[in-house]
Amino acid sequence: MSDTKFAPIACDLEAGKKYSWCTCGHSETQPFCNGAHRGKNATPPMRFEVEQDKKAHLCTCKLTSNPPYCDGTHKN
Ligand code: FES
Repeated sequence: MSDTKFAPIACDLEAGKKYSWCTCGHSETQPFCNGAHRGKNATPPMRFEVEQDKKAHLCTCKLTSNPPYCDGTHKN
């Protein structure tokens, strides 16, 4: 697995805003869902929001044990 291809993406998350994190890996707007899972019969996005504005590294390898956040698994 390529370390750069699946590196996490740093995102500025806003409190109270609803996000859809892509779980299937088919989205072209990683790390967020663009609806591509529907045509691929793949897993739906995980909806989440944060309580405070923060910068976070969101997982793109989809193997994290702490979705939607990177836990370093892509390096393994
Ligand atoms: S495109 Fe991957 S979850 Fe929607």
